[in-house]
Amino acid sequence: NNNLVIMAGGVGSRFWPMSTEETPKQFIDVLGVGKSLLQLTMQRFAGICAPENVWVVTNAAYVDKVHEQLPEIPRENILSEPCRRNTAPCICYVSWRIKSKNPNANIVVTPSDHIVTDTQEFQRVIKSALQFTSESDAIVTLGMKPTRPETGYGYIQADLASNTLRNKEIFTVEQFREKPDLETAKEYVKQNNYFWNAGIFVWSVSTIVNAFRLYAPTINRIFESLESVYGTPEEQAMIDKVYPECESISVDYAIMENAEAIYVQPSDFGWSDLGTWGSLWTLVKHDVNGNGCIGSNVRMIDSHDCIVHTTEEKQVVIQGLDGYIVAEKDDTLLICKLSEEQRIKNFHD
Ligand code: GDD
Ligand code: MG
Repeated sequence: NNNLVIMAGGVGSRFWPMSTEETPKQFIDVLGVGKSLLQLTMQRFAGICAPENVWVVTNAAYVDKVHEQLPEIPRENILSEPCRRNTAPCICYVSWRIKSKNPNANIVVTPSDHIVTDTQEFQRVIKSALQFTSESDAIVTLGMKPTRPETGYGYIQADLASNTLRNKEIFTVEQFREKPDLETAKEYVKQNNYFWNAGIFVWSVSTIVNAFRLYAPTINRIFESLESVYGTPEEQAMIDKVYPECESISVDYAIMENAEAIYVQPSDFGWSDLGTWGSLWTLVKHDVNGNGCIGSNVRMIDSHDCIVHTTEEKQVVIQGLDGYIVAEKDDTLLICKLSEEQRIKNFHD
């Protein structure tokens, strides 16, 4: 009864202009490996979860894209949101939907836009967390060792003395803090018991539904009230009607910052969140001056630590730039300081 939920409704707005409203980054072959980030995500769970238990929640505009890219998933498992309300409503909806089919389901929730380089270790960690949540009402997060004071992530403070549990790798969480400011993030990174939240959650369906009841009752009421229509021909029309009423809030703020029985499994499987240009910079090959260039006709002169992304045809010459993003797609050109990349989401509509 392992279910996989892939959240694929984001716009990747900090990855503009590569990621656009029309084609967000999860549908793009960002790494040039012949598969989109969404397809790589599904592939990573091979053997853990059967295709009929894989659910993708996305915006109505991307349902056909998901179906094209993941034809093995039953069409009715692609849940369509009529508008964007961030991840809390997304998770609440799919949880009630899964519960209507299997009240004993065990669930892994994953973003659709991450990179994992060690799939074997990833699978081992996920199986261990699933084992844990099948026997308890735990909310399990996966904790990544922070390497910089990133303000775009959630931070998990673990009680490292608490591994007297059944599972030696899983610790209780003292505090979950979503997207702290830079000063706070710097303090966290100095200590050894803080982890980045990978955005991957493991829980049983009853645990997460109860958490919504307690910490996001308004959102929960909306989806609980549709209990009798899930899986029927009325479902979509009802969802389209009620979805706009949901508050737009992420699961991290709505649930994780408030919930009690949270656990963390510190893990190391070559994780990276392709959330921003800076994260792509850390993944690509660099020249001797630390520049990462995607595009065949880029010349860097007296420039350091830049990330450059251009289309094949265009010749690009950059002189005297340090720590910049230069990204070009179709009729858009972005030039932005890497250190200011969190602002990119406000640079476009
Ligand atoms: N279906 C649906 N609907 N999916 C959505 C929506 C929505 O309205 N909004 C976002 N998503 C999807 C995105 O496509 C992505 O795969 C995932 O949900 C997470 O959303 P992000 O917008 O990328 O979140 P974030 O990166 O700011 O923060 C989260 O991930 C970090 C690690 O990557 C948080 O969980 C942080 O705590 C965490 O550190
Ligand atoms: Mg993200």
